[in-house]
Amino acid sequence: MNITDEYILFIDSGLGGMSVMDTLIQRKCGYPIAFYADAKHFPYGEKSVYEIASFLEDIYKFAISKFTVKMIVIACNTASISAIDKLRAVVDVPVVGTVPAIKTAAELTKNGNIGVIATKTSVKQNYLSDLANKFAVGSNVYICGTENLATAVEEEVNGADLQELLSKELAFFADKNIDTLVLGCTHYTFLKDALNDFFQGKVRIIDSCDGVTRRILSLLPEALGNSLNYNCLFLNDIKRLEQYERWNQNYKWFQEIFVEDGTWKKV
Ligand code: DGL
Repeated sequence: MNITDEYILFIDSGLGGMSVMDTLIQRKCGYPIAFYADAKHFPYGEKSVYEIASFLEDIYKFAISKFTVKMIVIACNTASISAIDKLRAVVDVPVVGTVPAIKTAAELTKNGNIGVIATKTSVKQNYLSDLANKFAVGSNVYICGTENLATAVEEEVNGADLQELLSKELAFFADKNIDTLVLGCTHYTFLKDALNDFFQGKVRIIDSCDGVTRRILSLLPEALGNSLNYNCLFLNDIKRLEQYERWNQNYKWFQEIFVEDGTWKKV
């Protein structure tokens, strides 16, 4: 970690937000990224709006005590929907949120039947139906809260077990004839292949990674095209370290990992 540099602070409850970060890294974003994985509080999808707002604020305070924050990316739909305004009110840097790509889906659907999946906390609020009313006029938007899909990513459920879980969680869509599915949780991007198998390739699956990345880069035009390789991970649950290190060996996102085990230490 280079104390004199300005970092883009990514926040999520776990692995999900890394799908957004991965897209940004591929576009050669010229700023280093500090990803805070709030694994201790996973899943955000079962927390209250009030709790999530206080997690975000604490993470921001922690981050500014360690490095300079250029921008915050809430790489989590649940946290964005629940608490982006509250976070914006207490920070003095730009905050980019993650919003389900219902607008894009409305542009792409052919039969006008769009599915949206998101966490329970996201679905409980009016935000998703407001988005549908605003951006998908003329389409049928079917919103479904899922119970265990983000957990399935964290627990690396796969193969037949994952398909069985999908058939339970997505039973709601059986009679909806959707041709487009919006992923309203950043974890679900890691399920794209399994979802594609589940829908036998007949449903177009859309996440928010491109949209969020475009928004970040529009606020940092000077960043584009510069390769930097010193991103770091802050993981606040040592029990998850081995798994996160394994993912990092695969994706090569982070050059440094810090973990909390009573106190923070570099591994
Ligand atoms: N990745 C988060 C989202 O985009 C939620 C996962 C969780 O429930 O913590 O909504």
